[in-house]
Amino acid sequence: MVSDDSGKEIDDWDLYYKENKVEEMPWYEKELDLDLEKEIKSRNISGGKFLDIGTGPGTQAIQLAKLGFESTGADISKNAIEKAAKLAQNVNFVVDDILESSFADNEFDFILDRGCFHVFDASLREKYLNQIKRILKDDGTLFLKVMSKEDTTLSEGRGPNKFSEQEVLDAFESNFDVNSIRPTVYYCRMNPLPKAIFAVIKQKN
Ligand SMILES: C[S@@+](CC[C@H](N)C(=O)[O-])C[C@H]1O[C@@H](n2cnc3c(N)ncnc32)[C@H](O)[C@@H]1O
Repeated sequence: MVSDDSGKEIDDWDLYYKENKVEEMPWYEKELDLDLEKEIKSRNISGGKFLDIGTGPGTQAIQLAKLGFESTGADISKNAIEKAAKLAQNVNFVVDDILESSFADNEFDFILDRGCFHVFDASLREKYLNQIKRILKDDGTLFLKVMSKEDTTLSEGRGPNKFSEQEVLDAFESNFDVNSIRPTVYYCRMNPLPKAIFAVIKQKN
């Protein structure tokens, strides 16, 4: 179970998106996540199919479209997708459960997961990893942001699951190559910004 920054439990994402304004959600960030922006610049990435998993407010998918990517924003919440779709015409916003995804094999060059993986119970991680492996191209890249165990802004029992770098490595390394992993923050409405981990992960061929 995940809770928002006020401690309210979110057991139904769709209801949460129906009842709340996206701009007031704790994870809302209008601009492109700075860690992703730096990585795109330093790797000289331009063009290709980019999927934003658990897109929620849709802001990241919208910013990726502005950079010229063929951008898809997917979320399990129909209400989130309906709200996001009103904000941009050049993003393919779709309802999709990443644990049972309808995307085609090898569909995406790049995937962003900013705060979706960290909401899943450990028992669901294998399903998640199998889907990522399937829909990401052989030379594709996953950009992952999760909450860090070092975060103290959200007290115990509040917010999503928190990870150490080793736990991220343990979750991904048997199926993927973790190119880089570093401590950072989760850019969002919260003040102070929660501590996070950012990893760049490639398919293992
Ligand atoms: C913490 S929010 C992050 C939203 C967005 N990525 C951002 O950074 O603004 C987590 C998002 O994951 C979505 N989500 C939860 N379970 C999901 C699933 N099984 N498949 C797809 N999206 C899911 C939620 O609806 C929610 O929008």
